[in-house]
Amino acid sequence: MRKAAILITGANGEIGHGLIRALQDTADVPVVALDIQEVDPALRPALHENIVGNILDQNVLDSINSRYELSAIYHLAALLSTRAEFSPKIAHQVNVDGTLNLLTLAVDQARSQGRPVKFFFPSSLAVYGIPDLETKLKAGAVKEDDFLFPQTMYGCNKLYCELLGTYHARYYQRLAADAGTFRVDFRSIRFPGLISAVTLPAGGTSDYASEMVHAAAQGIPYDCFIREDGVMPFMTMPDAIRAIGEIMAAPVERLSRRVYNITAFSPSAAELRQIILTHFPRAEIGFKVDDRRQDIVDSWPVEVDQSAAREDWGWQPADDLESAFSGYLVPAIKERYRH
Ligand code: SER
Repeated sequence: MRKAAILITGANGEIGHGLIRALQDTADVPVVALDIQEVDPALRPALHENIVGNILDQNVLDSINSRYELSAIYHLAALLSTRAEFSPKIAHQVNVDGTLNLLTLAVDQARSQGRPVKFFFPSSLAVYGIPDLETKLKAGAVKEDDFLFPQTMYGCNKLYCELLGTYHARYYQRLAADAGTFRVDFRSIRFPGLISAVTLPAGGTSDYASEMVHAAAQGIPYDCFIREDGVMPFMTMPDAIRAIGEIMAAPVERLSRRVYNITAFSPSAAELRQIILTHFPRAEIGFKVDDRRQDIVDSWPVEVDQSAAREDWGWQPADDLESAFSGYLVPAIKERYRH
């Protein structure tokens, strides 16, 4: 007998940390974690099993398939945008081949269970590629289907996986006699930069926001690698985790699309510095711009249009820039570095 479970890949990453805690309170079946690293010991009590393994290793996935009956897969494992530029081929393997492996696992599970398996895929505003800064500043809130010419390997990978997921949800093996009996209920959110008080991202281009606030809370000087007027959308991790819960809970007939934009606030790097200084007046934040990372941010929108998420599953961010800092980041981060 296989055991009912939910699978999270990349469980030890930033989103994984928040999601495991949320699922601990809400999931009706045990959570199984898969990560290339040992999962943070603090998360282990929330897990039924903690598998250290690679999503590219078919033996690992076969073992999961034979032992568990998965109602949902949260496929979070990925190389982020800056790291992927340094290792594009590995990024493609992990981000694309890895995702196809997990979609195939979902198909196998759906077929054996005779019902669709829910699949959550975190996409990113990195799927956008705006050709120049002038166009970016004029574009306003960019809709889901505009400017889809990513300039990074990570953005290409995410965009293609959005398409792969949508294909698995709608058309997978549509010519087969049993078509439709093994569908993947794919749901994806394009996240803006995420800021957590608990964890730091690794290898992303939006990392400057998190690094700035974590450095300030520890009294460490920080040089931001993005220009003072560099701007892109952000959101707190608790809002991101809530969004995942909401899109996964939405009745499938409410979803007019499989991939949704969401956002919360779009401060420039100078505005981020300013709000951090109001909470940590002695913070030393300078600017030492990395032109290549700046180019990546300049190809991402200032704002994204989130009306589809609002209309289809009632999305509304809880935090604006002010409340993100005063209500969440500052108190939680002070607690984090109290000792
Ligand atoms: N925050 C991510 C990055 O910077 C984008 O999804 O790579």
